[in-house]
Amino acid sequence: MTKFYVFRFTAILVLMVTLSIGTIKAQTYDTLWLNKIDLSKVNQDYGTPRANLSVDKHPLTVGGVAFKKGLGTHAAGLVEMDLKGTVERFKGLVGIDDEKNGKGTVVFVLVADKKEIFRSPLMKSGMQAVNVDVNLKGVKKLSMIVEDGGDGNDSDHADWVNAYFLYKGALPVALGIPQVEPYILTPAESPKPRINSAKVFGVRPGNPFMYTIAATGTRPMTFSAENLPEGLKLDPSTGIITGKLMSQGETVVTLKAKNTLGIATKKLKIVVGDKIALTPPLGWNSWNCFASAVDQNKVKAAADAMVNSGLINHGWTYVNIDDCWEIKANTDDPTLSGEPRDANGMINTNKKFPDMKALTDYIHSKGLKAGLYSSPGPTTCAGFTASYQFEDKDAQRWAEWGFDYIKYDWCSYGRIYKGKEVAEYQKPYVVLRSALDKVKRDIVFSFCQYGMGDVWKWGEKTGGNSWRTTGDITDTWSSMSGIGFNQNGHELYAGPGHWNDPDMLVVGMVGWGPKLHPSRLNTDEQYTHISLWSLLDSPLLIGCDMTRMDAFTKNLLTNDEVIAINQDPLGRQASRVYKEGGLEIWVKDMEDGSKAVGMFNRSLATAKIRADWSVIGVKGKQVVRDAWRQKDLGQFTDSFATDVAPHGVKLVTIRKAK
Ligand code: GLA
Repeated sequence: MTKFYVFRFTAILVLMVTLSIGTIKAQTYDTLWLNKIDLSKVNQDYGTPRANLSVDKHPLTVGGVAFKKGLGTHAAGLVEMDLKGTVERFKGLVGIDDEKNGKGTVVFVLVADKKEIFRSPLMKSGMQAVNVDVNLKGVKKLSMIVEDGGDGNDSDHADWVNAYFLYKGALPVALGIPQVEPYILTPAESPKPRINSAKVFGVRPGNPFMYTIAATGTRPMTFSAENLPEGLKLDPSTGIITGKLMSQGETVVTLKAKNTLGIATKKLKIVVGDKIALTPPLGWNSWNCFASAVDQNKVKAAADAMVNSGLINHGWTYVNIDDCWEIKANTDDPTLSGEPRDANGMINTNKKFPDMKALTDYIHSKGLKAGLYSSPGPTTCAGFTASYQFEDKDAQRWAEWGFDYIKYDWCSYGRIYKGKEVAEYQKPYVVLRSALDKVKRDIVFSFCQYGMGDVWKWGEKTGGNSWRTTGDITDTWSSMSGIGFNQNGHELYAGPGHWNDPDMLVVGMVGWGPKLHPSRLNTDEQYTHISLWSLLDSPLLIGCDMTRMDAFTKNLLTNDEVIAINQDPLGRQASRVYKEGGLEIWVKDMEDGSKAVGMFNRSLATAKIRADWSVIGVKGKQVVRDAWRQKDLGQFTDSFATDVAPHGVKLVTIRKAK
């Protein structure tokens, strides 16, 4: 009996202890399922992150096994978690979702307080999910990374399944894209004179000539020029050269800028011939900031800001009005409605632009140039009057108004164009080319048809000075990097007077109006954007409100050594010479025999990139110069290696050591 009681007592005790341990355990840790985190904080290069579904909205399935819970993402991806030091473990499985049928490769990585604690094998489609179980005791920050497997991020649908945190205390939260505090690399401007405008300028015989000597340095400044051809005159106080040149040929002029601290000289080659835009146009366009909220005052303010901010002194020239200056049919808005054309078929403006001639006069008086927009169909993309069947009249009107640049879209031409033959794609541009040739004015002709029919292959032949190679850019990493890094191969078709255009810049305050916001590109991404577009010889068209530029944005747009890469007279667009996972090197040949080299890190962790001379195409002792810092980094004999921030760049020039 006693034995029985002792046994019963012991059994009850054991049961109680077991139960209580169980209870303690169950109460000790709370569970945060990964699918419950704030998805707006999940960063990925393509598609939308989804709770309990794949990127393409299918039930999560890895290696033939379906999972109810998890997070469907896409490479390259990053979730930054603030673990608050309360997390004990992270558990789950990772793999490629089956929805892409045999496609996609990724690597899953966990970095805890900057230390890598987990790296999956190379995950291929069809593979069984791999187990993750890591101790996170005391960890504050966890980076959950999906890298592309080294073959680009195509089809990289990466699932974290049955994944959860065990924590005690404060709830861990997702932080979103790591913000990088703005840092300024461009050195402060010297008070001494320095001439920054392009070294070469093209003009057609008999057309009005205008070139502003862009120079930094304290004012007052006096400008002069040696060997200025007859027909041109220079205003010594503004540096604006105007006039007309009648005969074809080249003249090298020596420009001078003088202030109390010294004198700067620079050679300018003036080429009178049939080519203009011998370097990529530098300017501003109203679309990425104001879109349909544009009006005359905003354009005037942009011209003022280009001067007052000092941007003009670095070569920025064009002030371009995009869509929405014309009359709109079927609108209740009285400022936009009216007769689209006058009795002679000449196009009218809407009430937001009461006097175009006065506006371009204002822009020109500041030493700047003016640009406008139209479309070859009956209406523009935003539904305003466009040029179809009025091409000659429109070209004439734009010239009378004094415009120097026309962006010519495609919208609504889809209703007119038949078939997919290249000749059909070319037609509206051929028509406008001939209309522009009839006016006595140099008007930069910018095609905006998004790359259809491989426009880069025939853009020059049909008289384009530039052509958009892509759809519209927006201020996100996936948009900007997707467009920029896809330009490889197009370099075969660009050169002086004819440029690939991967769309306008998205740094500073943007927003497609009326409400603006700071670019969603982080600091390093903005350096990447300007560096890449400069290497690509892209027209650089500022897309932000220039009246609201902060010091960081100004630093991005006023670096003369970076701009000089874009404006190099050789006009040789960079090409990609190296790609390993998310690391890329792009090289551009420069007129003086040096190379401009962009070392880009598209991945989400800091990485070392090495540029071997054999890859860059140089030999022997070379001086490497940091273009953004405008500082020599030293002499190197067979390679140059550097750490590059996530989504960041190191932009250098490499020249033979003397
Ligand atoms: C298209 C172009 C944009 C802008 C708008 C105007 O979308 O790609 O850059 O010009 O039209 O409506």
